[in-house]
Amino acid sequence: MARHLITSALPYINGIKHLGNMVGSMLPADVHARYLRQRGHDVLYICATDEHGTPAELAAKEAGLPVADFCAQQHDAQKAIYDGFSLAFDYFGRSSSPQNVEITQRIARSLHANGFIEERAIRQVYSLADERFLPDRYIVGTCPHCGYDKARGDQCENCTRVLDPTDLIDARSAISGSSELEVRETKHLFLLQSKLAGEVEAWIDEAGREWPTLASSIARKWLTEGLQDRAITRDLEWGVPVPADTWPELAADGKVFYVWFDAPIEYIGATKEWADHNPAERDWQSWWYGADADGVQYTQFMAKDNVPFHTVMFPATQLGTREPWKRVDYVKAFNWLTYYGGKFSTSQKRGIFTDAALELLPADYWRYFLIANAPESDDTSFTWELFSASVNKDLADTLGNFVNRVLSFSRKRFGDDVPAGAAAGDAERRLGEEVAGLLAEYEQQMDALQFRKAAQALRALWSAGNVYLEEKAPWLEIKTDPDAAALTLRTAMNLIHLYAVLSEPFVPASAKVLRGVFDLPGDDRSWITAEEARALDTVPAGTSFTVPPVLFAKITEEDLESYRERFGGSEA
Ligand code: 2FM
Ligand code: ZN
Repeated sequence: MARHLITSALPYINGIKHLGNMVGSMLPADVHARYLRQRGHDVLYICATDEHGTPAELAAKEAGLPVADFCAQQHDAQKAIYDGFSLAFDYFGRSSSPQNVEITQRIARSLHANGFIEERAIRQVYSLADERFLPDRYIVGTCPHCGYDKARGDQCENCTRVLDPTDLIDARSAISGSSELEVRETKHLFLLQSKLAGEVEAWIDEAGREWPTLASSIARKWLTEGLQDRAITRDLEWGVPVPADTWPELAADGKVFYVWFDAPIEYIGATKEWADHNPAERDWQSWWYGADADGVQYTQFMAKDNVPFHTVMFPATQLGTREPWKRVDYVKAFNWLTYYGGKFSTSQKRGIFTDAALELLPADYWRYFLIANAPESDDTSFTWELFSASVNKDLADTLGNFVNRVLSFSRKRFGDDVPAGAAAGDAERRLGEEVAGLLAEYEQQMDALQFRKAAQALRALWSAGNVYLEEKAPWLEIKTDPDAAALTLRTAMNLIHLYAVLSEPFVPASAKVLRGVFDLPGDDRSWITAEEARALDTVPAGTSFTVPPVLFAKITEEDLESYRERFGGSEA
């Protein structure tokens, strides 16, 4: 089976992430990783906190903590939430790890040796009010391309164009709001991306052919605008230090690498963190370096604003080392999840944050809703109405209610074991055909990373059970033909087992409960074959079972009212 390396964009360390961050990177990566593991592939799913840069420094200052302590604390807080969301990382690392420092410096040295890094004296924006150089993203102003008035000095999040702070119209400090800015001279390292543009383009022509349009079109747009040389160091206390053996003067000056230089390298760094913590596992290099990594299929997950860094800047970094680093094979990019059509905003605390979400409802509710409505081809607007309709209809009615109806009724009429009843007839054969067809559709969409369509297929599988049950109506059959009723219930219970296996990538906790319904000690299957789907006989008659508590509680009108009140509804 193939080896799959999966990474999701690294969440910034400062602050708890909102549901938009979750659906644009970690959650779909987790669904994909779980699916591939279940299909028997060798999977390594890596993520980490993105800890460097000014926002971390500023947030630490605000919290009154040394930045290292702040990051350690926030890393643990984020990790606990991701555990709560059942994100099954193989490793969740930290971009401030010694492993990342080592690999980042190593890559910088190679780039330098190959003539792709140059020292340049630059004039940098200094804020008199803040008494410091301002990093690009702490200068805000109007985007010269689209007129968005909250563009940052590094990138306009409205039109995704990469900017230089001096491009901004009416520039001001994001820290103090002061427009008393002056330009001072200081030395920095530059990555000579312009020299690598041709190679990056050739690589995108080749590798990008398979990517979804959202990713390849952003990559191409970026290339067409011209690949500029880019400063890759900053004047900050917190970051990967410039190695003194190569750049003594800059190192003495306390320069550190730019956060977007070391963050993607942390995909590699975190793999080494994982390997260092799991000595029995494969070498980290077999995933990332040389011929050993040739057989690896590498998939990245991210929101669309991250695409340029992953499809152009990081590959340029890798290419410039002239070393055989593994490059991405497939880029799965997402549009935005909006909150009633407006932006989720960390700074304005608008929308739903991952910690609050888990306080309200179990992770499976969110996982299912978010993936079934993932912003794949367009933005998705989160509304409480859409959320509750989806939970109530799909999870509570179609899946949860089916399970409880079938199991409770069977227990009441036939006791604690799966009843035998009559042999399968036409209805069961038709159902088996339908289920096998839907399973194939589900697999095809999951293989293609088409999450909404995969969710549709899964929902159709759940629905098929309901339709079958309504048609056969065992509560009527029992009156005249108990064997017929038993057949219906046994078949339905086989569907429950099939749902338990197939729903795991979406709703792992509920899938586990469903799996535990049947006493099948030898059942170690991690997927359902087409034959099993057709035969619907993985749970034999005589298997003892239990009736689990209600799987999904419905969201009531009162719940909705209180959510709207707490989080704000449509008025924004
Ligand atoms: O946009 C973000 O949230 C970044 N922290 C993503 C970094 S992805 C990777 F390159 F590290
Ligand atoms: Zn713009």
